[in-house]
Amino acid sequence: MTDRSNTNPSQFGRLTCGSLRIDQAGESVALRGWVHRRRDLGGLIFIDLRDRYGLTQVVFNPQIAPDAHELASGVRPEYVLKVGGTVRPRPEGTINPKLATGEIEVEGLALEVLNESKTPPFELNQEGEVDEGVRLRHRYLDLRRSRLQRNIVLRHDVVAAMRDFLIARDFLEIETPNLIKSTPEGARDFLVPSSGFPGNFYALPQSPQQLKQLLMVAGFDRYFQVARCFRDEPQRADRQPEFTQLDIEMSFVEPDEVMGLSENLFLELSRRFSTKRIRETPFPRLTYAQAMDRFGNDRPDLRFGIELRDVSNALTGTSFNAFAQTLSGGGQVKAIVVPGAADYSRREIDGLTELAKQSGAKGMATLAVRADEVRGPIAKFLSPSELDALTTGIGANTGDLVLAVADTPQVVAKSLSALRLEIGNRLGLIDPNVFAYCWVYEFPLLEWNEEEGRWEATHNPFSGYLEEDAPLLDTDPGAVRAKQYDLVLNGYELGGGSVRNHRRADQERLFALMGYPANELAGRFGALLDALDYGAPPHGGVAMGIDRVVMLLADEENIREVIAFPKNQRGLDLMFGAPDLVVPSQLDELGLRLDPDKQTTIR
Ligand code: AMO
Repeated sequence: MTDRSNTNPSQFGRLTCGSLRIDQAGESVALRGWVHRRRDLGGLIFIDLRDRYGLTQVVFNPQIAPDAHELASGVRPEYVLKVGGTVRPRPEGTINPKLATGEIEVEGLALEVLNESKTPPFELNQEGEVDEGVRLRHRYLDLRRSRLQRNIVLRHDVVAAMRDFLIARDFLEIETPNLIKSTPEGARDFLVPSSGFPGNFYALPQSPQQLKQLLMVAGFDRYFQVARCFRDEPQRADRQPEFTQLDIEMSFVEPDEVMGLSENLFLELSRRFSTKRIRETPFPRLTYAQAMDRFGNDRPDLRFGIELRDVSNALTGTSFNAFAQTLSGGGQVKAIVVPGAADYSRREIDGLTELAKQSGAKGMATLAVRADEVRGPIAKFLSPSELDALTTGIGANTGDLVLAVADTPQVVAKSLSALRLEIGNRLGLIDPNVFAYCWVYEFPLLEWNEEEGRWEATHNPFSGYLEEDAPLLDTDPGAVRAKQYDLVLNGYELGGGSVRNHRRADQERLFALMGYPANELAGRFGALLDALDYGAPPHGGVAMGIDRVVMLLADEENIREVIAFPKNQRGLDLMFGAPDLVVPSQLDELGLRLDPDKQTTIR
């Protein structure tokens, strides 16, 4: 059990299980809390009494307080007690320096059991692994354990610091509604049927995107909100169907100002709430093209090196068929160097090949650089200069292993990025005590959706684009760069934002490119488009995923560990049992009828 009282002292001199110190020896006190642990030792009963501030040891002596001692002998873990007694120094040799209250104990004179407790389904005074389903079903108990207590307190402190930071810089916190109409962020909407207007639905916001833009039109030039967002999308360790953003929007800004403000906020948060070293300040900025070229990823983990190297040029004209075909078909050949891995076994290499294949690669070529030769299945098909380009040309030394993938740029990026991360982990190249922030910016504005045969926004459809790229909208829309930026930390996307289109004509032009029929626009985005007609200022903003930020500050690997009541990895609330079936009369009121073939019962 880590003591919490050092990090979160009671602010008002309140008496808590974490507040007593040696200079209070002799005082009469009354403490309330939970039984963390009880030990019976030679007639004495020791109870560690716990609340969110810490632990205090209480000792009941049958000679001094027989009634209290008698009662204490019957209490069990998680009983709720009120203890009256006297503070005294702990006897020589029993001082616990790890505990803020470790120099004292309370001599228990009176005891009242405020409530009993059944034996909890898992031990609350230990940190051991417990099945997550059991933890989530009894979340109120899990939350009593020190790990979640720490994380929830940290979350509170981080959000408070965010608020302080922004309020000190003229930002106003403004709430926006949760029952709205669809605002697209690329996921499916959660719908809420209206009983007043059967057949009609609200959508829960995927983000307050349009609302914050409307607040700019309203003249609230610096807005923020700790905003709940809802997205019906596949779950991952860093995703929840409802999550919280620090949502920000500012008028009269260019990307640089939003990035600068965010950077200062994250410098402050990192320094205050983490002991990790920030790898580089100002945060490095990579264009999307650079990030993809060097790391194959638009959220590169910069805690370690190993960059992708393009060897396509050196291999034009190669007689090795697989490379030649890929290159003539517009593909590329790129490689990474794995230091000291020339002796990897067949099995290890097969494992890496499998990883590349999971990212869509047809295969992976290897070259082991030995003192006397370069060895690998493809070595004999390559000329000496090609071999040289693929080894020393990309920095491989004796003892290193080169992994190369030939494919479309997308597949090359995806597979080598996966290999890079695997190697970084496997070789222990990732310093766990480092925060490597970076900005990735100038994302493509649009990407081609093959299935639907139309362009769509890579981020949100309101992002503006670089003025110099405007002519490309007609000739090569996929090459237009957005005024879009993402903040990345240790390979996680913490947040993203953009400078928006503040002129109606620009926004409509993009909607047209994205294939929204003109007659649908008024229905879907009418309010925003109309507002752009009434003196909308230039504006831009950003949204940070608070759950992810706290997860990284808390050194956790799953956002569920920093959310009081999360859904499980299937999106279920195991505690309440949601989602759930409803009674037929509720459906009747809403004018809904279920398709029996589609109905599922979850258990
Ligand atoms: P975006 O969709 O990039 O941008 O979201 C911003 C940040 O929110 C977090 N995030 C999530 N966290 C947990 N679970 C999820 N399902 C989830 N989805 C997103 C991420 C992400 O970086 N309106 C724009 C912002 C803007 O342009 O101002 C938006 O929502 O950390």
